[in-house]
Amino acid sequence: MKLIVAVDEKWGIGKNGDLLLSIPDDMMYYRTTTRGKVVVMGYTTLLSLPKSKPAPGRLNLVLADIEGLRIPGAVVCGSMEQLLRLIGCFHPDDVFDVGGGSMYRQLLPYCSDAHITKMRFDGEADTFIPNLDELDGWRVADESELKDHEGLKYSFVIYHNDSPKALETARELSTNMSAYFRKKEPIEIKLIEDEGYQAELKELAHAYFCPLEKGMSADEVAEYLDGDNGAFEEYLRKNHYIAAIGDIEALSEKYGLNDADARSIMVDKANLDVIDGI
Ligand SMILES: NC(=O)c1ccc[n+]([C@@H]2O[C@H](COP(=O)([O-])OP(=O)(O)OC[C@H]3O[C@@H](n4cnc5c(N)ncnc54)[C@H](OP(=O)(O)O)[C@@H]3O)[C@@H](O)[C@H]2O)c1
Repeated sequence: MKLIVAVDEKWGIGKNGDLLLSIPDDMMYYRTTTRGKVVVMGYTTLLSLPKSKPAPGRLNLVLADIEGLRIPGAVVCGSMEQLLRLIGCFHPDDVFDVGGGSMYRQLLPYCSDAHITKMRFDGEADTFIPNLDELDGWRVADESELKDHEGLKYSFVIYHNDSPKALETARELSTNMSAYFRKKEPIEIKLIEDEGYQAELKELAHAYFCPLEKGMSADEVAEYLDGDNGAFEEYLRKNHYIAAIGDIEALSEKYGLNDADARSIMVDKANLDVIDGI
């Protein structure tokens, strides 16, 4: 696992539940580093995200001590044990701890690398992470040149931990699993004037573009971890957490789709309304 965080000169990371500062270049660095990966966060950090919603294009695992909580777009874990078990199902390089303070502190021993944006100012933070310059086992592996944002100096530093703690439950199971949750490429589908077809297509299109639409609990995921990937995918598809191109093809076949009575559209998020409006 890796972590990514922006710190001030005292290793402060937040104040009053929010970031100390937001540097556009740093936000871009965060987005490109975590895109398509598994991001792990505490509930407070989730609430601090835009509209308090999980970031799209990533598999979001949220640790929250709230019974029965469901977060559309995320898997909710009720305990650290549950979270660690789930993290162990992914390739360590695919998992990023994205905060906040309590998550960085608890998961630090499991991290092999830390992407630290070092901001040269004192943000008078109320939340901190350990100073990696003073922590045994951690060393600077890479550092960018000093950058400037409206007078604020900062740099991107990568720290390496020579002996990260292994996750007990780590298994080969599935780097693929995260792919199930990622947004897939637009596909071409056909529309025909058939109510049954249109209803089914609408449901599928929705699932296709809204992976984890309903949110899942770690228990639900865990139930399928012992099966093979196929069983898990089958579960996700059956419950409309995801849809696959094959679903659309099967639908076309079922309704005897042909070019004469069909028109084709390219479905992407921008015209999902077209589907919703059928
Ligand atoms: N600078 C950055 O790059 C960066 C990045 C992310 C966040 N932040 C900042 O960090 C601050 C938030 O950090 P935080 O430490 O207050 O909150 P947090 O780590 O984001 O989340 C804390 C939440 O996780 C739950 N939790 C933590 N450990 C748990 C465990 N072992 N079992 C069950 N639940 C657990 C807590 O439940 P309980 O309340 O029951 O303990 C609480 O709801 C904000 O200011 C945020 O802006 C900064």
